[in-house]
Amino acid sequence: MLARWLIRVMDAQGGWTKPLGDLVHRFLNWFFGRLPWLRDLLIGRWLGHPLHAVLTDVPIGILFMVIVFDVLGTSSAAAWALAVGILAMVGAALAGFADYADTDGKARERATLHSTLMVVALAGYSLSLLLRFPVDASQPASAAAVWTSIVSFLILSAGAYVGGDVVYVLGNMVSRHAFRGAGTKWIALEPAEVVDGAIPEGKPIRAKLGINQLVLVRQGETILALHDTCAHAGGPLSEGTIVGATIQCPWHASRYELANGHLVSGPSVYDQPAYEVRAKDSGGWEARRKVA
Ligand code: FES
Repeated sequence: MLARWLIRVMDAQGGWTKPLGDLVHRFLNWFFGRLPWLRDLLIGRWLGHPLHAVLTDVPIGILFMVIVFDVLGTSSAAAWALAVGILAMVGAALAGFADYADTDGKARERATLHSTLMVVALAGYSLSLLLRFPVDASQPASAAAVWTSIVSFLILSAGAYVGGDVVYVLGNMVSRHAFRGAGTKWIALEPAEVVDGAIPEGKPIRAKLGINQLVLVRQGETILALHDTCAHAGGPLSEGTIVGATIQCPWHASRYELANGHLVSGPSVYDQPAYEVRAKDSGGWEARRKVA
């Protein structure tokens, strides 16, 4: 099957994608660590959706039109499309680097292959644009310029395939709660720690709710509860830190409001499922998911 062969080809690149990915990852973490507002902007926190996924269709569509314009012999339209496509590629790449900063393991290796292919395609398109100048609208573009853009499109398509693999196969930037039902039935809650019949105050406590794990934070008489699995990449919030009215994930530092699971800062772009907790007349507690 073609997909299995392609996976073997991608995995065979690990000798260089792993060290290069680790190096780029360290730099991006350092860079975005100093500019978290820029990371949140590029990653799409304000949109509640990964921005890179929204932007990538734009250059692919425009750059396909370069081939169409070249076939039609409209060299001026092809040059304009190429220039706009290059700008759109740069915009998509910036958003992609914000995603890349928090990839781990296999997803980081694949993302390294994806971004390398995209950088090579971008260099090819830039060369193709240079080869078209000065643009003479009455003449078709040179064969070298046309073939450079065709080869660049093939590399771009290969890069897009690998990028799709990072999301659809490896689940990078997919909400960890994508398939969680919205059930609102009250279920018995089993906190991992109870002292003198009470949940300890002011620190995250793990609790079992049926098949789900929650994190509880007691504030006086109120018990706040979120799903324990961080929506970003699955970090355990019960091992995180309480920061004011929020809890910070221990893996990549996303913060969620304890009262309702609303995302406060990335790299997550998703809210966290929140639960309401009440004491049972017979003792102990029960909880159910809050309706969003
Ligand atoms: S797993 Fe990445 S921020 Fe929680």
